[in-house]
Amino acid sequence: MKVRVKRGAAYEQFEVPRHPSQTVLDVVIYIQRVLDPSLAYRYACRVGMCGSCAMMVNDVPRWTCRTHVDRVAKDDFLTIGPLRNLPVIRDLVVDMREFFDKWARAKGDFRGRQTKEDDFAPVPPSSEPRQLADAAIECIGCGVCYAACDVVKWNPDYLGPAALNRAWTLVNDVRDAGRLERLRAVSGDAGCHACHSHVSCTERCPKKLSPTGSIAGLKRAVAKAVVQGDL
Ligand code: SF4
Ligand code: SF4
Ligand code: FES
Repeated sequence: MKVRVKRGAAYEQFEVPRHPSQTVLDVVIYIQRVLDPSLAYRYACRVGMCGSCAMMVNDVPRWTCRTHVDRVAKDDFLTIGPLRNLPVIRDLVVDMREFFDKWARAKGDFRGRQTKEDDFAPVPPSSEPRQLADAAIECIGCGVCYAACDVVKWNPDYLGPAALNRAWTLVNDVRDAGRLERLRAVSGDAGCHACHSHVSCTERCPKKLSPTGSIAGLKRAVAKAVVQGDL
């Protein structure tokens, strides 16, 4: 199989043997270990948990450790590049700082109101807020949705699907004490109202989450808080 790898402004081509159940990450690892030890890339778990292996594969953002070559190679040909919408550090490694800085700007950290002296807070699994929080909580921070989002491309300030999805998880967490502060943080020009709802993030999320749905929920929650005079 011929594999084109984006390195800086240019592409380099490598010949990589195919084998059954081969993933795109296997291909990158083969290139680095056998053909060119200087190739830079990032991964950790290889089982779809850490979120560090995302890259562009044939121009589509994907988690490479769980993407099989058989599913994406076209005519025995593959193109691999660094994740879109983030600064490239080297070869296939992007700088994730602005991605995670936006989680902080969206107040993506849990603000507890209890102390260690308190008992566990009961949150019934069948309650609506718990189900809404559960539906969005499995994010692995891979950045695939962020790379898929054209609004991020046009407006680098836009908080983006992952940070807003995280904010929505916490807005629905009844134990959290930062709800209004968080709604204020996501209601600005670069927040949930900048989303054009064109669902690329949801189509691409490898964990099958729906940042689009989460952002729509944030829009409703912000509107309600405004009507109630809380924001
Ligand atoms: S739905 Fe919103 S966040 Fe998702 S890709 Fe479209 S504009 Fe970006
Ligand atoms: S929402 Fe999905 S695509 Fe986006 S960072 Fe989380 S797991 Fe990755
Ligand atoms: S290497 Fe951890 S998610 Fe792919």
